[in-house]
Amino acid sequence: MAESLTNAPEVEKLLNRAAGLDQPGGDERLKRIVHRIATEMCRTIEEFDVTPSEFWTAVGYLTRLGHADEVGLLVPGLGVETFLDVLMDEKERRAGLQGGTPRTIEGPLYITDAPLEKGEARLDQDPEEGEVLFVEGQVRDTAGTPVPGAVVDVWHANTKGFYSFFDPTPTPQSPYNLRRRIETDAEGRYRFRTIMPSGYGCPPDGPTQQLLTALGRHGQRPAHVHFFVEAPGFRKLTTQINISDDPYLHDDFAFATRDGLIPELVRHADPSEIKARGLDAPFATIRFDFELNREAANLPEAVVVREHAKAA
Ligand code: BEZ
Ligand code: FE
Repeated sequence: MAESLTNAPEVEKLLNRAAGLDQPGGDERLKRIVHRIATEMCRTIEEFDVTPSEFWTAVGYLTRLGHADEVGLLVPGLGVETFLDVLMDEKERRAGLQGGTPRTIEGPLYITDAPLEKGEARLDQDPEEGEVLFVEGQVRDTAGTPVPGAVVDVWHANTKGFYSFFDPTPTPQSPYNLRRRIETDAEGRYRFRTIMPSGYGCPPDGPTQQLLTALGRHGQRPAHVHFFVEAPGFRKLTTQINISDDPYLHDDFAFATRDGLIPELVRHADPSEIKARGLDAPFATIRFDFELNREAANLPEAVVVREHAKAA
């Protein structure tokens, strides 16, 4: 087709009416966004000669994606959650902000109101065979001053790659297993004991994996630990650290691995160290310090409003 049908006057009129652009009332910005999305959809159908059967297959797919509660899985899988980070980074850079721990995606597996503890916590409340991991560090501002009273909200998967509350296995975890909020001490320090996580994999029979497979992609994430770090007067940080020896470290289906978020993983097999920790097997440690940026009126909003599940 030489001429674009999407640009034809009758189609333009149709799309204007569909987005309410020919009507007073409603939200003007929303109208323009909906108009753009509908127009791009029509343009795509036209340019790729998408048949009606293919189109309704896609509609069925999106319906199943929603029913399976996997929209929040596909969005990072398509790189769009990372794009939001790239955009926020750029807006901050243009506003003159420098430094701070890099942000990376939140992902869809956070739940609110994990138990709050002071200074230190043990995350693995459900017994599991695995390598014990100790993580510790300090929260500081960009000038190096410690931030006491910051809340380090941490969550990660178990040794099988499943998150509590979202665990599909016949013996699911306790709701807050491997989830805690830790308030930093007077020196801005936090520490926790936990169990080494495994990487997450998309449900193999779910719609997200179905599309990834059709794109020739896998749905695996490297092992990682999530954090929100918040303190009054500072910008909220959403980030993750990676377990550095994971084979998917630089092949994350959700595109969350970033320089500055791969701390050294130290393995300890010395019997005296093992004994000193009260353990009977080798363990691992990670040190990771967070650098928070101060809040300022000219900066884009750092708190992302997003629906979260609640365990209780
Ligand atoms: C995760 O954090 O484990 C995750 C992130 C994006 C998609 C799926 C899982
Ligand atoms: Fe995760």
